Amino acid sequence: MQQPVMKDKFGRRLQDLRISVTDRCNFRCRYCMPREIFGKDFAFLPKDHLLSFEEIERLAKVFLQIGIKKIRITGGEPLLRRELTALIERLANLDGLEDIGLTTNGVLLGKEAKRLKQAGLKRVNVSLDALDDETFMAINDSAMRTKPVVDSIKQAKEAGLEVKVNMVVKKGMNDHEVLPMANFFKDLGVTLRFIEFMDVGQSNGWDFKHVVTKKEMFEKISHVHELEPVDPAYIGEVAKRYRYKGTNTEVGFITSVSESFCSTCTRARIAADGHFFTCLFASEGLNLKDILRNGATDKELYQTIANCWRKRDDRYSDERTEETVKNRQKIEMSYIGG
Ligand code: GTP
Ligand code: 5AD
Ligand code: SF4
Ligand code: SF4
Repeated sequence: MQQPVMKDKFGRRLQDLRISVTDRCNFRCRYCMPREIFGKDFAFLPKDHLLSFEEIERLAKVFLQIGIKKIRITGGEPLLRRELTALIERLANLDGLEDIGLTTNGVLLGKEAKRLKQAGLKRVNVSLDALDDETFMAINDSAMRTKPVVDSIKQAKEAGLEVKVNMVVKKGMNDHEVLPMANFFKDLGVTLRFIEFMDVGQSNGWDFKHVVTKKEMFEKISHVHELEPVDPAYIGEVAKRYRYKGTNTEVGFITSVSESFCSTCTRARIAADGHFFTCLFASEGLNLKDILRNGATDKELYQTIANCWRKRDDRYSDERTEETVKNRQKIEMSYIGG
């Protein structure tokens, strides 16, 4: 069935869907799930509040009718969800889906990489914020060294997955690792993306002074390596891409703070409990799980989602000020999936 193109208030299409499959994680990154808040007593979602694989597949089909082309599976840590490969397999086979990726901290990726690839996964983005164990362990607060993550990156590549590495850079935390990371992943031939630390959620103590901008990182790297720009792969790609001159290896910058990219934002998100969000910095979502479980037809789901997208006027990063940072109630990164 050919549907009309769905646009929001600013003419942006709904093209990419990020689906979180769990709000749990085996890390406690200081900038995302600080242990003081996400400790033993934290109320993670109970199992029956999570969307089942059947429910996720059904929603994905409705979103494909609306026009999405790309799905990214996120968490928390998505590989903690049991039998995730089975979900990938269901989704990868859906008509009209052009791309399916996974964002992971990498710890469990190595041993799953082949099965994920066989199930139809195309791409993985692996988070790694430092090469140096001491810095990495201070960030993940889970005694995890860098070697298992680096090994997973190599194994994912060997399994035939397209791999990118994400490094969140925060001033005083890991900015001294920018150049060592760039050198290492250049030599490995893997794309590294530097992410400006963002004010997601309520618990990471974010402040403008913690942000290392793209400009600063670009200058640091350019002193050593000549970079040339690369065109975006698709409208709405979040990273600004460059290539190390004379190589095929790329490096990227995700500049939500210093150069926002809301004007081309084609992304929507489903949290693990089935709430639908039209912005990473949203305060409220639409409860698709209840709508589903109350017996809505596919047509009703389609209409509900389409109406929500048509009303969308989110552009948080364009509007970010000291006031929004302080006063906007924002959902947590580990819940919405980045
Ligand atoms: P690709 O498909 O490989 O381009 O993936 P991606 O970069 O969209 O996804 P990934 O999960 O690797 O996210 C990288 C970083 O970009 C994370 O810090 C995300 O939170 C951030 N990000 C992704 N989409 C958006 C967005 O729409 N707005 C903002 N502000 N940040 C985003
Ligand atoms: N700012 C920027 N990126 C973040 N991530 C988690 N928290 C933040 C934040 N506050 C990154 C993770 C992962 C991706 C999904 O989002 O490191 O790579
Ligand atoms: Fe760290 Fe990602 Fe886990 Fe958050 S979800 S604690 S960023 S590994
Ligand atoms: Fe999209 Fe919201 Fe990110 Fe802007 S801040 S790019 S609207 S998700």
